[in-house]
Amino acid sequence: MKVTVTRATKDDAVIIALLGRVTFDETFGHLFSDRQDLTDYFDRTFSVKKIQQGLEKQDNVFWLAYYGNLPVGYLKLKISSPNPFLGSNEHPAQLQKIYVLKDFLSKKVGRHLMDAMYEELKRTASGHLWLSVLNTNERAIGFYKKGGFSVLGEHTFSIGKENFDFIYLGKKL
Ligand SMILES: CC(C)(COP(=O)(O)OP(=O)(O)OC[C@H]1O[C@@H](n2cnc3c(N)ncnc32)[C@H](O)[C@@H]1OP(=O)(O)O)[C@@H](O)C(=O)NCCC(=O)NCCS
Repeated sequence: MKVTVTRATKDDAVIIALLGRVTFDETFGHLFSDRQDLTDYFDRTFSVKKIQQGLEKQDNVFWLAYYGNLPVGYLKLKISSPNPFLGSNEHPAQLQKIYVLKDFLSKKVGRHLMDAMYEELKRTASGHLWLSVLNTNERAIGFYKKGGFSVLGEHTFSIGKENFDFIYLGKKL
């Protein structure tokens, strides 16, 4: 089946909101002892309104990946985004989210999404690309390292009662 990637518009907010919730749950749901913490996070982060607002910001670009006719993944890029381990003269851009539905992992959907993002980054003045990944997310870390990212530093992040250890990865563009 063919994988295609399109740049998302605000009409895609419902699809992205749903993909956002389901893919986050598939990836990290098991790490939450209280399901309410997860659903509260979903309501804050993946409401259709919040995604619509995100799509309308000049600094964000979203892409959707289709497997045949099915939307199966998305990527969110923030073109200008500071990072504590990079100077502003390095013009850092942030790969904020890349998520593919579980049934469609390892089918090159992630790679197609990254290719679309790199095409866009050629048109921006970004000097570095960075992202934050849970330090136990081995599949994603392997995927990024294969793509040329290396470790910039560490940080923590809390959702509800759960505290998570993250690493920043970055690469020069
Ligand atoms: C991370 C993610 C986006 C990668 O997308 P994907 O569609 O599964 O990956 P692809 O099929 O495009 O793989 C691309 C390359 O990465 C490599 N790769 C994938 N998983 C890997 C792993 N665990 N270790 C090393 N390399 C890996 C593949 O071998 C492939 O290389 P190749 O093209 O040379 O064969 C996807 O796995 C995903 O959505 N995971 C769940 C959500 C998540 O963790 N998101 C990131 C949060 S920070």
